[in-house]
Amino acid sequence: MAIGVFDSGVGGLSIHRALVARLPEADFVYLGDQANAPYGGRDGEAIVGLTRDGCARLFAEGCDLIVLACNTASAIALRRLQQSWLPAVRRTRGRPANVLGIIVPTIEAATGRRWRDEGCAVAAALPSTLGIFATRATVASRVFEIEIAKRRPEVAVFSEACPDLARMIEAGADRGALAAVVRRHVDALVARIGGPPDRAVLGCTHYEIVAELFHAALPPGTPLIHQPSATATALADYLAAHPEYDPGTVGSRRFLTTDPAALRNGLAEAFWGGPLPFEPSVVLTA
Ligand code: DGL
Repeated sequence: MAIGVFDSGVGGLSIHRALVARLPEADFVYLGDQANAPYGGRDGEAIVGLTRDGCARLFAEGCDLIVLACNTASAIALRRLQQSWLPAVRRTRGRPANVLGIIVPTIEAATGRRWRDEGCAVAAALPSTLGIFATRATVASRVFEIEIAKRRPEVAVFSEACPDLARMIEAGADRGALAAVVRRHVDALVARIGGPPDRAVLGCTHYEIVAELFHAALPPGTPLIHQPSATATALADYLAAHPEYDPGTVGSRRFLTTDPAALRNGLAEAFWGGPLPFEPSVVLTA
C-alpha cells in the first residue's frame, strides 16, 4: 500500500517533504486539487465534498492511510469524514482505511501535550501567546482556540486570517508582492496582541513555501512551530501503533494534480528544487 497526501494544491508539498524524510522507504501518492484551489474562501460543504472526493481518489490509487496536508480540510472536513463517511468506506473496501489531519500534531507541538493525555506534564517552555496565520475558513472554525483552550487554557491564541495568500502562492506570485502581504498580516497580528507572539504557527501549508518571508516580517527570533516535522512525527507514531497499515517498502513517489496547467509555478519549483513532478488526475467536484 501507499500513504496518501492531500492538499488543495502545492502547499502540501511542504508536508510531503518532511514525511518522506522521516519515512524514506514508504510509498507515497500526493494529490493536489489545483482545479479547485484555494479552499480557504469556500463554504464548509464545498470543502467537505472536495476533501471527501480527494480522499476517495487516493483510496482508489491504493492508499489505505491518508494525511490531509491541509489545515483548511483538517479543520472543516476531517471530523465529518471520520464520523459519517469512513465507516462506509471501510465496509465497502473490506480493508483498513483512515484519514489523519495536521491540526492535532500542530496543537500537540504547541502545547507539549499528547492529544489524549490527561496528565499534567508541562512543556519546557510553554508560550503565553501563540500567533496563528491561516486561511479564512480555518480561522473562522476557531479550531486552534477551542482545542488549545481545552488543554492549555493559560495560552492566549491569536489568529490572523490571510485570505489572499494561498491563492497568490498557488499562482506563483512575485516575492515582493508576497512579502508586502505577509508583512501586513504580521503587523496586524502583532498590533492586536500588543507585542510579538511568543511563538507562531504557519497554519496553512502553503505559507511554509514562503516561510522566510514570515521570518523576515516577525520580530527577530520569534520561533515558528514547524507543522511539517510535527506531522511527520505523528505519522511515524501512528504507523508504529497501527501495524494494520502497511506504508510500503520501495520508496515510490507519485504526484497527481487535478489541473496540470496550474503547475507553471516558479515559487513552488524553487521550494521543490526543480520542475513539479505532477501527472494528471480526474477533476474533483464538491
Ligand atoms: N494549504 C491549505 C491549508 O493548509 C489550503 C489553502 C487553500 O486552499 O486556501 O489550509
